Amino acid sequence: MKKAVLHAVYPGSFDPVTLGHMDIARRALGIFGRLTVAILENTDKAGFFSFAERQEIFLEAVREAGLRGVEVVHFSGLLTDFAQHIGADLVVRGLRAVSDFESELQMAQMNRRLSSELETVFMTPSEDVSYISSGLVREIASFGGDISSLVPHAATVRLAERFGRA
Ligand code: PNS
Repeated sequence: MKKAVLHAVYPGSFDPVTLGHMDIARRALGIFGRLTVAILENTDKAGFFSFAERQEIFLEAVREAGLRGVEVVHFSGLLTDFAQHIGADLVVRGLRAVSDFESELQMAQMNRRLSSELETVFMTPSEDVSYISSGLVREIASFGGDISSLVPHAATVRLAERFGRA
């Protein structure tokens, strides 16, 4: 019997995408069948990479990983409005540690208040990538540390370029 396809939206800053994010994306795609990665365009928070760069890096990483059925877009405004706009069935968020839980629970419940139909599904990454964060990756890269086992190749290249080590 053919599996039903659900459309999941995976929102985040992804500045840049890490192997932890890729692990969640791959798992979510395997379960739901369609995934839209949604990069938040928050204009009052200056990021490291531009939204266009983050999108390019994520797209290259998706290609590199051979994932079919993943779109990468950016969005502004409320996640619930965006999810409704693209017809998403659910939101996927990764939980790396207990420390993530409190804010994630609050966000999921607030999103449910804003849109009672939209479920949030939490997924845990593989333990070998669960300690990775974009912030730590940027810091290590800024001091010339090796980040090649923490992020997709596309992100390694862009970080090296940005820190003048290409
Ligand atoms: O990777 P991040 O920074 O933890 O992702 C946070 C994100 C993008 C999921 C969250 O900030 C978000 O959904 N922002 C959109 C604005 C919104 O809907 N705010 C109300 C959330 S309860």
